[in-house]
Amino acid sequence: MAVYDSFQRPLRDLRISVTDRCNFRCTYCMPKEVFGPDHAFLQRDELLSYEEIARLARIFVNLGVEKIRLTGGEPLVRRDLPELVQQLADTDGLKDLTLTTNGSLLRRQARALKDAGLQRITVSLDSLDNDVFQRMNDVGVPVETVLDGIAAADEAGLHPIKVNAVVERGVNDHTIVELARHFKGTGKILRFIEFMDVGNTNGWNMERVVPAKEIIERINRELPIEPATPNYRGEVAKRWRYVDGSGEIGVISSITQPFCGDCTRIRLSPEGELFTCLFAARGFDIRSLIRRGATDAELGEAIGKVWRVRADRYSEIRTEATVPLERVEMSHIGG
Ligand code: GTP
Ligand code: 5AD
Ligand code: SF4
Ligand code: SF4
Repeated sequence: MAVYDSFQRPLRDLRISVTDRCNFRCTYCMPKEVFGPDHAFLQRDELLSYEEIARLARIFVNLGVEKIRLTGGEPLVRRDLPELVQQLADTDGLKDLTLTTNGSLLRRQARALKDAGLQRITVSLDSLDNDVFQRMNDVGVPVETVLDGIAAADEAGLHPIKVNAVVERGVNDHTIVELARHFKGTGKILRFIEFMDVGNTNGWNMERVVPAKEIIERINRELPIEPATPNYRGEVAKRWRYVDGSGEIGVISSITQPFCGDCTRIRLSPEGELFTCLFAARGFDIRSLIRRGATDAELGEAIGKVWRVRADRYSEIRTEATVPLERVEMSHIGG
């Protein structure tokens, strides 16, 4: 049974954040000054258990969800993640099961994730220049580790592999062509993401955004590309293919070309709150319902209600005035 929101957008994708922790401190996401040694992360008993998550997933699929993405924080820092993957993979009617990771722990886990039923994977990598990359992740993890994680995913058959790079002016934008050149012809799909004003801690301002148009122009000048048709309605990344047939790249332009009109995504936080927008301040507490003994029907009813009244379109109405509004952190509910 499909559910539609107040703009007639169906519920199709569920993004599950399994932890608010991460072993990186990317300056645009978890700046050290805010996420320092004293930061209060969620405690174990606050987290949804894998059984609770898998149960909710089945209910979501009954409401029309076809794709599930695991995120964080860094999902691979949560213990025994393949166990959750296995439970989710058993969900009848689910078409796509994937995960977004920073890749640093992938060498150790790629095979187990694949064996558990993960279909594909997206790895974040913002630059191939070690100085630039280490300055961005701010914990000294070298490019080599992430490339090795990507290789492990490749060997395990987690295809297609996508690589996400957030582009920040003056930080890594001078390295985007090199990144494109590296992945061209490898079958891995590189996507550039406009730096976004998610959360309230990353010091976002428009000057630090490199518009998608400019990203495309800079790549095209050296590696000619042409627009490709979307894979499905509402695809977040705009696709471009290399004119010489050696693959494609994508650009995610939430700032300069928002895509709320087709937004079919809901987000589940590690402690069981539902967010109907990446830029929301508050979620709907589904964990309390579960722990009070709600039936599947009652949970389905509650989720359906949250989705039906949804009117979010933050990226389309973003102005100077909306930037300072309170918002959940991206490291809490995932990208
Ligand atoms: P697939 O097409 O399934 O491979 O994934 P996707 O294109 O949805 O990409 P992914 O889930 O990897 O998201 C890439 C990035 O796009 C995220 O990390 C966010 O930065 C951004 N993004 C994803 N969903 C949204 C959204 O609903 N709103 C906004 N503003 N940005 C989003
Ligand atoms: N702007 C754009 N993308 C971001 N991500 C994290 N924070 C931001 C931001 N402020 C991306 C990460 C990763 C995904 C989970 O979200 O780089 O690819
Ligand atoms: Fe961690 Fe990803 Fe945020 Fe970087 S962007 S701090 S890797 S959750
Ligand atoms: Fe969806 Fe909110 Fe992103 Fe718009 S800003 S695409 S409504 S999550």
